[in-house]
Amino acid sequence: MLEQGLKDGAKVFGLATGSTPETLYQELNKSNVDFTNSISVNLDEYVGLGKEDKQSYSYFMNDRLFDTKPFKENYLPDGKASDLDKECEKYNEIIAKNPIDIQILGIGQNGHIGFNEPGTNFDVETQVVDLTESTINANKKYFDNIEEVPSQALSMGIGSIMKSKKIVLIAYGLEKSDAIKNMIEGSVTKDVPASVLQKHNDVTVIIDKDAASKLSIFMVLPFQQI
Ligand code: GLP
Repeated sequence: MLEQGLKDGAKVFGLATGSTPETLYQELNKSNVDFTNSISVNLDEYVGLGKEDKQSYSYFMNDRLFDTKPFKENYLPDGKASDLDKECEKYNEIIAKNPIDIQILGIGQNGHIGFNEPGTNFDVETQVVDLTESTINANKKYFDNIEEVPSQALSMGIGSIMKSKKIVLIAYGLEKSDAIKNMIEGSVTKDVPASVLQKHNDVTVIIDKDAASKLSIFMVLPFQQI
């Protein structure tokens, strides 16, 4: 899909972290796809972590993709910025200068996108977010212990995500099944940030059988038909 996007002229890719996009990045690393004229703008970063910290999203992106597939420019919020509000403004300017052609999204178990937790207004831009207990618990697997998980993050806002021309949301596993059901079949509500995607006109959702298992219209297609 990203390769097709490149062929169709996409220049700016909104990228995500977490375990979900790892297979996508592995496939891209193995492919001939060339991002040397492309720009990446990532969704988020933990407050207090920098690119040398193995748990930072900056480290993750270098390790999983950018070291193998160089881009012309890579942008992530700076989790170590001394003035976080200024960093948010700076990131908004970066997004405004580089409108996102294709945005890759994962989804949190509580329906968050980026680090926009339940209750976030749909029109917000980059902001400092207090992470919820659910998110801290879900992400603790990447840290030695739960105390090390930062309690805050910088996240591109839902308003900016919604301005992306095309959105591809990926989710795997039973633990995402409630979020997927609520996102697709529930009402559009701040309680489920991903439900806002119902209002976007170009969203592709890629899910496995487990993540799809709570949808009321759920049919497994033979491989050839997909
Ligand atoms: C984090 C990221 C999200 C991601 C979510 C799901 O909270 N900020 O962008 O979608 O985790 O992560 P995983 O793919 O590991 O389930």
